[in-house]
Parts: sequence; structure tokens; C-alpha cells
Amino acid sequence: MARSKVRYVCQACGAVAPRWAGRCDACGEWNTLSEERADQPVSGAKGRTLPKGRTVALQTLAGNEEAPPRILTGIGELDRVAGGGLVPGSAILIGGDPGIGKSTLLLQALARMAQAGRRCIYVSGEEAVAQIRLRARRLGVAEAPVLLAAETNVSDIVSTLSEGARPDVVVIDSIQTLWSSMIEAAPGTVSQLRAGTEILIRHAKKTGCVMLFVGHVTKEGQIAGPRVVEHMVDTVLYFEGDRGHQYRILRAVKNRFGPTDEIGVFEMAGRGLIEVENPSLLFMGDAQAQSAGAAVLAGMEGARPLLVEVQALVAPSALGTPRRAVVGWDTARLAMVLAVLETHGGVRIGGHDVYLNIAGGLKVREPAADLAAAAALVSSLTGNPLPPRTAVFGEIALSGVIRPAGQTAQRIREARKLGFETIITAADGTADNDPAIRRVETVADLVAMIAGNALSGD
Ligand code: TYD
Ligand code: MG
Repeated sequence: MARSKVRYVCQACGAVAPRWAGRCDACGEWNTLSEERADQPVSGAKGRTLPKGRTVALQTLAGNEEAPPRILTGIGELDRVAGGGLVPGSAILIGGDPGIGKSTLLLQALARMAQAGRRCIYVSGEEAVAQIRLRARRLGVAEAPVLLAAETNVSDIVSTLSEGARPDVVVIDSIQTLWSSMIEAAPGTVSQLRAGTEILIRHAKKTGCVMLFVGHVTKEGQIAGPRVVEHMVDTVLYFEGDRGHQYRILRAVKNRFGPTDEIGVFEMAGRGLIEVENPSLLFMGDAQAQSAGAAVLAGMEGARPLLVEVQALVAPSALGTPRRAVVGWDTARLAMVLAVLETHGGVRIGGHDVYLNIAGGLKVREPAADLAAAAALVSSLTGNPLPPRTAVFGEIALSGVIRPAGQTAQRIREARKLGFETIITAADGTADNDPAIRRVETVADLVAMIAGNALSGD
């Protein structure tokens, strides 16, 4: 067989390369190229004439489409993240680390919907029917009329779903186990994943059932991750959290039928996932103790305010290259805040080991966390705790200027509601006459405030 019949596909980003290489040129990941047969040359259209197509009627933008009806899962946090329930005919991907609770969440949701009279099918390629039954018993939903199948062959799955009454909701656990004989590649490769998912999405659109796909996030890149099918589905949710902590966050990162910055908060308990409806104070560690190196961020997750404790430890380093370790925040962001503190805040932190941790296993992404991180770092370095009951938020620019964050009023309201009287935030030009709102213009102001402990007298 000619060598041109082979191509190499990156299992991390899906880029196609003609030759094998240790590193993918497109995404820079190592050891992710995998050999596949190239039946369809990538530039297949070249040199051929486009066949004549039929004309389609053009439509106007205005129409009287009704909002799509939604299927409520009965799990409020999941419904909210999905944009107010599941849209029939849509494809939803739930990604996350192995063991985080994806199967548990979906089995609980299916059980609720089945109990409400929906026809629900759970297709597992990872576990045997007996194992799923055991989990259902543990979750206390063994009596729910959910239909089970342990199957990985896409053709068999489609035939099964087409048989009998149309299902309302189908779970495919997981896309990594899907396998189709049409594709000559090993299960778990980009080609298999894409082909299997595409066939099932087409089935969902045709029949109007909801397809929920589970996708494991894989760090090694030997098996393809959910990223490679993100563009095909309507909604992408990520389930995250720290396995050492009981809290789990469901986050929408793409949603054709709703907002994308919503989160759902769950607690993993002995009998499955429990919804946490008012998570404001969950991620607080022992902030009440007022130790140096802790600052409370008045954060926002989508439309929800959330108070989160940021913990920092700054200690003189014995190493030539000091350690920088971050849990729950962005390493690059920490490096930036440290550099700004050195350059514009006059803080000598370069020779220190720096550890930064977000309490409770939450991952914080918003830039408003900059100021809270900076406050925790300066507090740890100087040994001066922030004044009691203080919340902090604001974005730090490279120039050292503190920028206001969005939804300022809402953040302050929530912090106050929970007893955080003093607020440290950016000067936004408005002169408020509330002395408990401390405006800092630059990181130098923040450093002076904490180093001099100027606030402690209040
Ligand atoms: P699982 O849903 O199997 O994870 P995933 O499908 O994302 O790989 O969750 C597995 C973990 O959840 C496992 O470590 C045990 C824990 N767990 C509980 O703590 N309580 C429960 O009721 C269940 C079913 C699982
Ligand atoms: Mg699972």
C-alpha cells in the first residue's frame, strides 16, 4: 500500500500532519500524533468541479419561532447551567477528569427524568450493567425506570435507540469508548471519537432526543479528549473540582441555548451528588481566624456572587530558583501579579518561594481575583493580616494600576450580606462616602495599606 495512504492526527487538537513528529506543530503538545489511514485526502476537493446543487429558499430573520421547550432534569443546578433545562434534539457534552462524578450526576438526572415519565436510556461503554445497578442502589434510585445498555459499537447503539418508542434522553458514557467499523482507527482516537459522536448527534437531531455525552479529560494525550468534539455539540459543560474536596462545580463553557458563565455547585456525599443552592460561603476555609496570608475574594461566577478565600504563603527560598506553586488559579497570572508587585509595589519577593491556594478546591478564573491574590501575598510577606471581615476584588494592570471589576455593586452587596464590612477595591472615579470601602489606585497603595497596617485601627 502506498505510503500516502497514511496520515498523522494530533490526539490533542486534531491537526493533521503528513509525517510523524514528536511534537504537534499546531498545539505544541508532545507525543500526541497517531497514525491513521487517509482514505479521504485532506485536500480532496482540489481539481474536481463542484456538482450542481439545488437552490434553497432564503428566509427572513424575523419569524415566529417559539422558545424551544425544555426538559427539566429535576436537578436545579444542572438545569440552570444548561440554560433552564435540556433542549430536545440537542447534544450536550459533559467533560471532566476521571472520577470527578460525571456518571453519578448523569445517572441521578436520568433517574429523576425517568421517574417523571420520560423515556431515558443510559448507554455505558465503561461499566457493566451490574456495576451501574450497584451505583443506582447506592444512589437510592434503583427503582427508577431507566433503561440500561453496555455497548460501544455506534451502529448497534443507533439501531437500539431507533427500536421501539423514541427516547427522550440518552446518555453516552463515554465518547472515548465509542467505536465504529466505518473508521479504521483504534477506539479513543480523534477519528473514532468524531465519527461516533457525529453519528449520534445526527440521530439526536433527526429524532429530537437529548444526547448527553460524557467525555474524560485526558492529560496524557494518548487518547483524545472532549476538546476535539466541542465544536460539534450544542452545549459544553465541564465538571470540575478537587478530588480531595467534596465540592464539585459544573460550568458551562459553550451553550447555544443559554448563558455560558453559569455554574452549578454540588457536594459529593456518600449517596451521590447533593445540590448546593446557596454556595456563597462554601469556599471560605477558616478565614474567620484572620491569619496573615489570607484574603477573601468577593468573586462572581456568572450571575452568582461567591466569596472565596485566597491563601498565600511567601517564605525565603533555599533554592537558586524559588518555587512557585498554585492550586486553583492560573500560574501565569501569579507570575504577572508577582512581577507587578516587584516593579510597581516595591516589594522584594523574587527570592522567596511562593505558594497560592484557593480554598475548597475551586478554580478561580476571573481577573478580579488579582487584587485578592496580591493582598494575600503582601500579607504573608509582611506578616500583617488584613483587618477582620474584609473582602477584596479588582483587576491589576501591568502598569500597577488597579482596575474596577464588573458587577461591583453586586459583589459589595453580597459581601456585606455575609458580614464582610470592609471592602478593598479599585478607585472607579465615583466618590462614595462609605468609609468602609477602601479604594486603592495602584499596587503601591495596597502594599502601603497592608505593610503599614493602615486599616487596623478601624
Ligand atoms: P463517577 O461518577 O464514577 O466519576 P466519573 O464518571 O466522572 O469518572 O464518580 C466516582 C467517584 O465518586 C468515586 O471516587 C466515588 C465517588 N462517589 C461518592 O463519593 N458517592 C457516591 O454516591 C458515588 C456514586 C460515587
Ligand atoms: Mg464514569
